[in-house]
Amino acid sequence: MEKIVILTGAGISAESGLGTFRGAGGLWENHRVEDVATPEAFARDPKLVTTFYNQRRAGAATARPNAAHAALATLQRDYDGEVIIVTQNVDGLHEAAGAEVLHMHGQLDQALCAACGHQWPAPMEMQVGEVCPSCGGGFGRPDIVWFGEMPYHMDEIFEHLVTCGLFAAIGTSGQVYPAAGFVREADAAGAHTIELNLDPSSVVSQFAETRFGPATQTVPDWVKGLLG
Ligand code: OAD
Repeated sequence: MEKIVILTGAGISAESGLGTFRGAGGLWENHRVEDVATPEAFARDPKLVTTFYNQRRAGAATARPNAAHAALATLQRDYDGEVIIVTQNVDGLHEAAGAEVLHMHGQLDQALCAACGHQWPAPMEMQVGEVCPSCGGGFGRPDIVWFGEMPYHMDEIFEHLVTCGLFAAIGTSGQVYPAAGFVREADAAGAHTIELNLDPSSVVSQFAETRFGPATQTVPDWVKGLLG
């Protein structure tokens, strides 16, 4: 069976009560990206950035996976071929539904030492100057990939993109690279491509197939079709 690669974004967690980034009521409506999601912002105002991610962590901790997360976990378990799920989301809802995922933008429940690179489970309330359990330095930060930083697992992800037979993007606006460029890679490698989204993304014209609607409806339907 052909390999399936699935990219998810904030839209898949929207119906679990977690805010998306763009659009009306989105996280970036209340916060300028440059104030909270860049290494420069953390250097300038670590308290603001730490508080922003403490709030996100608290919200994610009480959220529950929805029918779309559950359907992808079922697909990964029951499909005869490989199913690779890559998420831009920093919540743990795919795992909570029982799926294995590659977190390309980091994880809210992890801390990262800016000095030695050690990663460890983040406390619910991170402090400015959080002490690294490995090197003892006070340079702990949220393990989130900020703008201007290199996303995680990129070599592995590109290997999967050029060897998959089907690529799906779910609930992502297509505004942030490199993730927005995955469809082009998969398409060039000969994969069928499909976008499942509430609204068309910025790269919608690059997909061979599109399905629009809330993820809790479109994703279970799509998975049902794949599992036959
Ligand atoms: P965005 O907030 O940019 O886009 C959310 C997408 O989800 C939009 O295309 C919506 O139409 C769609 N959507 C909303 N509700 C939905 C629902 N119920 N069902 C299906 N789709 C729905 O979020 P991302 O594309 O994930 O990066 O954003 C990409 C990156 O930008 C994030 O990972 C984050 C952000 O800055 C970092 O913080 C590093």
